Amino acid sequence: MCGIIGIVLSSSKALSKNLGRVIRECLKNLEYRGYDSVGFAIVSSEGLIIRKSKGKIDEVVSKLSFDEFDGIYGVGHTRWATHGRPSDVNAHPQTDCSGKVAVVHNGIIENYMELRDALISRGHEFRSETDTEVIAHLIEEYKRLGMSSYDAFKKAVTHLRGSYAVAVIDVDDPGKIFFARNTSPLVIGISREAKFLSSDIPAFLDYSRDVIVLNDDELGYISKDAIVIEKLVDKDLRLEFDRVPPKTEFIDYRLRVRHIDWTPEMAKKGGYPHFMLKEIHEQPRAVADTLISISKELDNIVKLLSKADRVLLIGSGTSYHAALVGSLLLNELAYVKSHALISSEVRWFINSIDDDDVVIAISQSGETIDTLLAVRDVRGKGALTIALTNVIDSTLARESHLSIYTRAGPEIGVAATKTYVAQVATLSYLAISLGGYMGTLDSNKASELKSELSLIPEVMSTTISTCEPRARVISGVIGTKHSMYYLGRGLGLPTSMEGALKLKEIAYIHAEAYPAGESKHGPIALVDEGFPVAFTVLGDEAELIVSNVEEMKARGAWTLAVVPKGFEKSVKLFDYIFELRRISYELAPIVYIIPYQLLAYYTAVTLGYDPDKPRNLAKTVTVV
Ligand code: M6R
Repeated sequence: MCGIIGIVLSSSKALSKNLGRVIRECLKNLEYRGYDSVGFAIVSSEGLIIRKSKGKIDEVVSKLSFDEFDGIYGVGHTRWATHGRPSDVNAHPQTDCSGKVAVVHNGIIENYMELRDALISRGHEFRSETDTEVIAHLIEEYKRLGMSSYDAFKKAVTHLRGSYAVAVIDVDDPGKIFFARNTSPLVIGISREAKFLSSDIPAFLDYSRDVIVLNDDELGYISKDAIVIEKLVDKDLRLEFDRVPPKTEFIDYRLRVRHIDWTPEMAKKGGYPHFMLKEIHEQPRAVADTLISISKELDNIVKLLSKADRVLLIGSGTSYHAALVGSLLLNELAYVKSHALISSEVRWFINSIDDDDVVIAISQSGETIDTLLAVRDVRGKGALTIALTNVIDSTLARESHLSIYTRAGPEIGVAATKTYVAQVATLSYLAISLGGYMGTLDSNKASELKSELSLIPEVMSTTISTCEPRARVISGVIGTKHSMYYLGRGLGLPTSMEGALKLKEIAYIHAEAYPAGESKHGPIALVDEGFPVAFTVLGDEAELIVSNVEEMKARGAWTLAVVPKGFEKSVKLFDYIFELRRISYELAPIVYIIPYQLLAYYTAVTLGYDPDKPRNLAKTVTVV
């Protein structure tokens, strides 16, 4: 999970800035993918310049004077360590023995040990602990055997097993950046002044909105005058070090160029101190745009779901919480047999999956490897797969039979916020439509819920402005605690789970969610004077929760609640409340998560943490 960038300028004056500065800007936009070390390689009139160091981008760029370096083409990298601890030597680019080949890589080369041993026995000297370094030495080895730089690169790629998006400079073939992709995302951006390679589109949105999304097993190069894309026809993992170039098919890139409508502003902070806060405030728009777009797209999917024997919803982290909301709504409104599964656990259910099942795979990024692997598994069993993702043409979208897109815009903060509410709004719309179509939901009720859904963005705006000051105050209390429970029933449970995930993820406070009724079966043992417990009350289930609150209070718990206005017992039961507009229980998860997001955000800030870049996490998790 790293961010890679490659840039070839059309002339030395293009973009009117030093190339080092452009690389720095693009890496900053990719920082959400990893931030333990940073580096670049630029080819200038003086030759190949490489600078890299452990640390976050802002620290490293001034230390290494990124902005001062100029050249015509170069690559950059922001790292999230997998093989080898964060250190200067493990930072990318990684180079060969001659120092002519510089490689930046996102992903994991699974067979790197075997490749490394083979290369060492042929005299190569390794400097880092990374898996990436084998790529540079493999290229060098094939050049030593007499192959051209580009053929040597292609040949090297045929030996790589695992996931990779790589960008490579070889000064022996000037002006080109070679690239290859398998499993890890890689896109090309095109403009009059430059060509870009990147792990994600927001990296170069300031300069280009014409993109080509690369597929698995594609490789090639960009240069001032050319874009070459080839598809590897056979991958030869055997290491025989022969000089036979791999078989490939050429691809006409012009047929693959797509114009995307994201603006650069969408990927910038827009005056907010953090992306996460900006993205919380963007939620009403994210939901509104998503609802407008899906209302035209879902008819066909509703018909398909009506024929399914079972609908499984899968996802990881926050996307799994959206899956839980979706499965509860499908059961309740459309009487469909539906279950939510954590993507990485799908394999344990695989024997019972067949071609009567429909699997909705949820992932904001569309690149989460656990979800991709699960989709491949269930496709293998004949299930129809539908991607629900925020990224057009992401791997998940391309590997699923059908796709539904949320329109949240790029999400940069590592903690998912606006993409979650967009996912939940989509699944709510889907369940209401399916219930209406199947007649399990009275048609008047279905229309009422849909009209109410269209007003939800407005309710969200008010909720954000009323909850924000309160979240600031309560964060002062939560910041003093070490552990916390979030309890809820029905749709209040996934909302609680998502609230707990947000708190632990960015404020580093242990937080667990339980079904409120289950709390007395064990969790209550931890509760003593001042132990914080948050209750999620969405509406209909309020009375059922009262006794659970009393049980906690009797043990001295400090209680907080997210409740609908008019719940009379609130004052007596809770120490602090977020009172929200009462809306239909079925739609409440879209709105009632907001106070928890704000609470987590302000607690993290109060404690001095950066909510956009929580430790040990990356925005897109492309490792199993
Ligand atoms: O891109 P995805 O939705 O597939 O990501 C899944 C999880 O990695 C993600 O939701 C993660 O849990 C977030 N950091 C939560 O805020």
